[in-house]
Amino acid sequence: MKSEQNSDAIPHADPFAIFESWFAEAQKSEPNDPNAMALATSTSDGHPSVRMVLLKGHGPHGFVFYTNFLSRKGGELAANPNVALLFHWKSLRRQIRIEGAIAEVTPEEADAYFASRHPESRLGSAASEQSRPLQDRQVYLDRVAALREQYPDGNVPRPAHWSGYRVTPVAIEFWQDRDYRLHERRRFVSDGAGGWTSTLLYP
Ligand SMILES: Cc1cc2nc3c(=O)[nH]c(=O)nc-3n(C[C@H](O)[C@H](O)[C@H](O)COP(=O)(O)O)c2cc1C
Repeated sequence: MKSEQNSDAIPHADPFAIFESWFAEAQKSEPNDPNAMALATSTSDGHPSVRMVLLKGHGPHGFVFYTNFLSRKGGELAANPNVALLFHWKSLRRQIRIEGAIAEVTPEEADAYFASRHPESRLGSAASEQSRPLQDRQVYLDRVAALREQYPDGNVPRPAHWSGYRVTPVAIEFWQDRDYRLHERRRFVSDGAGGWTSTLLYP
């Protein structure tokens, strides 16, 4: 047990390689949505909000999610591009925290992802005025039905306000559960030129 506690569970190597390996393990062990992550945004005067979104692309160029740009988060992101992301994989007892700023994905990238979605999901997101008040759920269902009638194959065009953001990370922190809560944390900080330095932190 002593040697297990002394050994380094989180490598010092490239943070994207660690992300890749932990994400691959999560895809095997998590019963639902291993790609679900909390996205924290804040208004320009510093009021935070957080919600879950799905990771739809990742790598050294960033972490991508898709949403409605007219939603609450979209408004906050238009005013303040700085975000934090959080993965917590309960079955693996691991957490990853990411901080960075967002940029919009290209329209081509958004079109390709939108086209890959289930036709009903495309209709649902085209019909949704995300985060706006809805008097009655039936109003939303009727909007979906009207679009389904207009586009029976589900090939509704991607609304211009439905697209993706890429988070370019400036810091990535890995947290691994260890015995008796002597947990392990390693924080990587970007040097802005493609390199990363890492430091262990007290848990
Ligand atoms: C597991 C999970 C995954 C979700 N994925 C997304 C997503 O990828 N994009 C999205 O816009 N909303 C997603 N949602 C819904 C958001 O959490 C949120 O309710 C919605 O985006 C409105 O947030 P806002 O009012 O802060 O803009 C997801 C919710 C859950 C629970």
